[in-house]
Order: sequence, then structure tokens, then C-alpha cells
Amino acid sequence: MKHLIAPSVLAADFTKLQAEIELVNQTQADWFHLDVMDGRFVPNISFGMFIIKAIKKMATKPLDVHLMIVEPEKYIEQFREAGADVITVHYEACPHLHRTIQQIKATGAKAGVALNPHTPVHLLEDLIEDIDLVCLMSVNPGFGGQKFIYQTIPKIRKLRELIDTRNAATMIEIDGGVGLQNAEALLQAGANVLVAGSSIYKATNPKEAISRMKSIGKDTFYV
Ligand code: DX5
Ligand code: ZN
Repeated sequence: MKHLIAPSVLAADFTKLQAEIELVNQTQADWFHLDVMDGRFVPNISFGMFIIKAIKKMATKPLDVHLMIVEPEKYIEQFREAGADVITVHYEACPHLHRTIQQIKATGAKAGVALNPHTPVHLLEDLIEDIDLVCLMSVNPGFGGQKFIYQTIPKIRKLRELIDTRNAATMIEIDGGVGLQNAEALLQAGANVLVAGSSIYKATNPKEAISRMKSIGKDTFYV
């Protein structure tokens, strides 16, 4: 199976949100990536379930909801009801991560865990089999349009090794500063979901950017 492309709606023009969602509906992109920020876990505030509910009505692809919030366990069911298909919480925000993962799965959503750039992948070694998706942050979370942190590449390799050694089905998602300039290297290192905000929504031709990102490497990369 080919890698997945998840355009990040944070970079869309919210004065014409419907057109921005429909634009992606018409492409080979796989998911919508939705960034929820609370002004506490990250130094920025974005949107919550109200906007996600509206996007759910317009989107024809699954919603990948990235919770950059403290105490995410308080809101899992509400995000699921709003339409989330994948719910990702931050390792750094979850003192009882194993329980929170089970809570997400109990709603029927896929469970994701995001790691900040400074958080090592080995911290997931005791629960990797329980996680559907690991989101490696390749920028410090909170803002779109930041520069890719190169150290993410060796982290992808380490995580790929851990997943393959355990024979786990966990997907590796990369979030932040992703574009055509580094997509191939990320896939080669073992990633299988690419989140891209600015490099898609701010591109002169977003549809072309998606199709170029999707066609990289044909079928030679990881599922
Ligand atoms: C950052 C968010 C990202 C962001 C990516 O905190 O988690 O999903 O939207 O934006 P770009 O692709 O512009 O770096
Ligand atoms: Zn994100």
C-alpha cells in the first residue's frame, strides 16, 4: 500500500473553508489533518470540536485529529462525536498514556501518540503494539510554516526498527515542515503518513502539490 497524505487544514484560508475542504476532497489526499491547540500545551489557540463538526459535514475523507492540549482524556468522546477517525494525543500531556490509548480505542477511533522533537522514541517501547499511529513532530508544535528539524530522520529510522522488530502494524506520521523537498527522504526512512500544511494549502497549485507528493516512490515504501 502507498503512503498517505494528510493536508493540514490549519494552513487553509478559513474565510472560504468549504472551498478549501472541497479542493482536497477532489484529490488523492487520504486524510484531513486537524490541529487542536489550547494555549496551554502549546503557545497558540486554534479550533475545537465545533469546527471539526462542520468540517466532518464537508469532508469525504477521514479526519485525523491532533490534540495539542493538556488533559486530552477529558475530551476524547467529544472529539469522536464531532467526527474524528484518528485521535492523537501527546506523550508529554498524558501521565496515564496506556489508559488514554484504551479510551480512544473504546470510542472506535484509531489511537495516535505524538512525540515532541525532544522526546525519544524508545519511551514508547512498552506499548508500541497498542498504538495505531505514532506522530513524530518535526517542528515544535503550535504553529504552521516552521522549518523541518532534521534530527527527525534518524528518529524515523529508530521507530521503524522498533515497529518492525515487534511485528506491530503502527503507522509513522511526520508532522511539521513537510514538503516535496523532504518527502522522499521521510518515506525512505520509514514514514508512511505525511502531514503537510503550508506546502499544500499555500502552494500555487495545491492539487498538483498533493499529486506529486502522493506519487513519490510508487509502491516501494512502507505500508
Ligand atoms: C504544528 C501542527 C502541524 C502544522 C503543520 O503544531 O501540528 O500539523 O499544521 O504545518 P506545516 O506543514 O506548515 O509545517
Ligand atoms: Zn498537527
